[in-house]
Amino acid sequence: MPTVAAIEATGATPVLSDVDPATRTLDPSRLGEVLGENTRAIVPVHLYGQCADMTPILEIARRHDLKVVEDAAQAHGAAFRGRRAGALADAAAFSFYPTKNLGALGDAGAIVTDRPEVAEQARLLRSYGERERYVSVRPGWNSRLDTLHAAILTAKLSHLEAWTERRREIAARYLAALSDTRLGLPVEAEGRRHVYHLFVVTVADRDAFREALGRDGVQTLVHYPRPIHVHPAYEHLAARRPPGGVRAAVRPGRQPAALPGARGARDPGCDRRDAARSPDVGA
Ligand SMILES: Cc1ncc(COP(=O)(O)O)c(C=O)c1O
Repeated sequence: MPTVAAIEATGATPVLSDVDPATRTLDPSRLGEVLGENTRAIVPVHLYGQCADMTPILEIARRHDLKVVEDAAQAHGAAFRGRRAGALADAAAFSFYPTKNLGALGDAGAIVTDRPEVAEQARLLRSYGERERYVSVRPGWNSRLDTLHAAILTAKLSHLEAWTERRREIAARYLAALSDTRLGLPVEAEGRRHVYHLFVVTVADRDAFREALGRDGVQTLVHYPRPIHVHPAYEHLAARRPPGGVRAAVRPGRQPAALPGARGARDPGCDRRDAARSPDVGA
């Protein structure tokens, strides 16, 4: 939702493309279906904490003279072939919403780029297009990061790597403990460092699965209950899906649910796996 909202806020027209069912990130092999003469940029979302498959995406962008903007809102510290999310394309956006891997105490975010002209425009947009106080050289808005949040983020930044390692440890425990169940488990693609913003499994009967875990004191969450093009505000996107459909985004019979994976979790759900394996769950 926010990715599309941001694109529309620029006046551009978002067009949906399908994801790879294993990683849930943009499937480069499906991109050709939606590129057109009006296409200006590709926005891969590094979903759940794993980078999209950037090499072919950047290659397609180069061939068609397109910009690439990473949505790195869920991917602080993630990497693709040794390079960090945020340093993979023309520009990237990070969210510091409190629940993100690096979170402020309220809404916050940052744009990252190595293009001076993009940095200059971002700085102008941030504060009413002012290059100097009370001189607006272009229209903008107020999107300044509060000093308090900046201070909190600066202090938390030095812990990010340790927190990320903790997330990866919890994920490794889940993967080992749940490998012989019928749950669909997250895949860390070769050459990518997953930072497990969310640990999302897929399951056949999600309600029964969530209820069974809930009875055992393990909370699960659903991100996101419905695809964007069925929301009343975004029904217009239904017509802008790839001709081959969004096959991987909407998979009949398998529904995603996130297991608890916060860095502070002392007793992650993988230690209660009997609930996840019970016969009435039909995972
Ligand atoms: C993938 C993705 N993109 C964009 C955003 C938007 O970030 P924010 O809530 O800071 O505007 C979020 C977080 O909500 C997100 O998860």
